[in-house]
Amino acid sequence: MAFAQLLANAVLLGCLVLVLPKGSICLSGPGQCAGSVNLVPQQRLFTSEPPPELFGNPENPSPGMRESHNWSQKNWLKSRFHFSFAEYGHGPNNFGVLRVMNDDLVQPLRGFGPHPHRDMAILTFVVDGFLTHKDSTGAEETLGRGSIQFMTAGTGVVHSEHNLDEQPLRFIQCWILPRVRGAPPTYGSMPGDATSGRQRLNGWFHAVGDDLKGGEYPVKINQDCNMYISELTPGTAVPRYLNAGRQGYLLCVEGEVHLNAGGSDNYVMQRHDAAELKGPLLLEATGGTDGALVLLFEMELTEDSRGEL
Ligand SMILES: *[C@@H]1O[C@H](CO)[C@@H](O)[C@H](O)[C@H]1NC(C)=O
Repeated sequence: MAFAQLLANAVLLGCLVLVLPKGSICLSGPGQCAGSVNLVPQQRLFTSEPPPELFGNPENPSPGMRESHNWSQKNWLKSRFHFSFAEYGHGPNNFGVLRVMNDDLVQPLRGFGPHPHRDMAILTFVVDGFLTHKDSTGAEETLGRGSIQFMTAGTGVVHSEHNLDEQPLRFIQCWILPRVRGAPPTYGSMPGDATSGRQRLNGWFHAVGDDLKGGEYPVKINQDCNMYISELTPGTAVPRYLNAGRQGYLLCVEGEVHLNAGGSDNYVMQRHDAAELKGPLLLEATGGTDGALVLLFEMELTEDSRGEL
């Protein structure tokens, strides 16, 4: 190659490097400056089916009893823990500021009796059925699909969560470590109405964000952590850029999602599967044949990872 052409190439490359935001693209090949995707298949989650008396519930109905007709499981609760929780002590403790993600299925007329919390931002996303909340701040309400309930446990809150309906209730409960301790307890919710339904449809609905950043999101928490919700129709693809220095925890709540992280890497995630994502990553989520519902928590990058299988 002639010297003039080499020089021209060098100048061109120099310009390219200058116009690209730092850390946002990998010119030196995969693995060098790219982010990473670590799938967390549901088999790696801990499944908890505690006895009814633990939260003040009546016995489980025997199969065949009228009461069991609308039950989808034999036990009042089936919970999938993504992190160490209750009797699960040997799991990962957290992923960045995400301390708890429990995927709970509560059968009709069962629930969690009054119990206390401290210093934690608690976010609950209702997937199916109706969640009835009561707490020591006087708050009381029932929320349906697509709703988010949020609580700052702060100096202490006592609450109960029940399924008072005839159908099973499924919700995803997440705990975020707050920036400050000892804040006054607060309670709030975002209704799962037609507006929020439209906002999450085939896009990334920014539902939760940092109270210090003054964004437009309906739910504000005391931490540099965002939650996005996306409900995808089959075959619809939505891009999402995860910056360098940031990480995400993605949960496939319903259906099947195909995740592309740039290049030829494709990941298929089914209901209950999760993924640890480290930026920089250009993600594209595509709804599978029955579509998908996904939650994405985005936060500051840490070393946390559950490692290889
Ligand atoms: C089951 O659900 C249906 C529809 O909500 C309701 O009409 C029926 O009463 C329920 N059965 C029981 C035993 O709760």
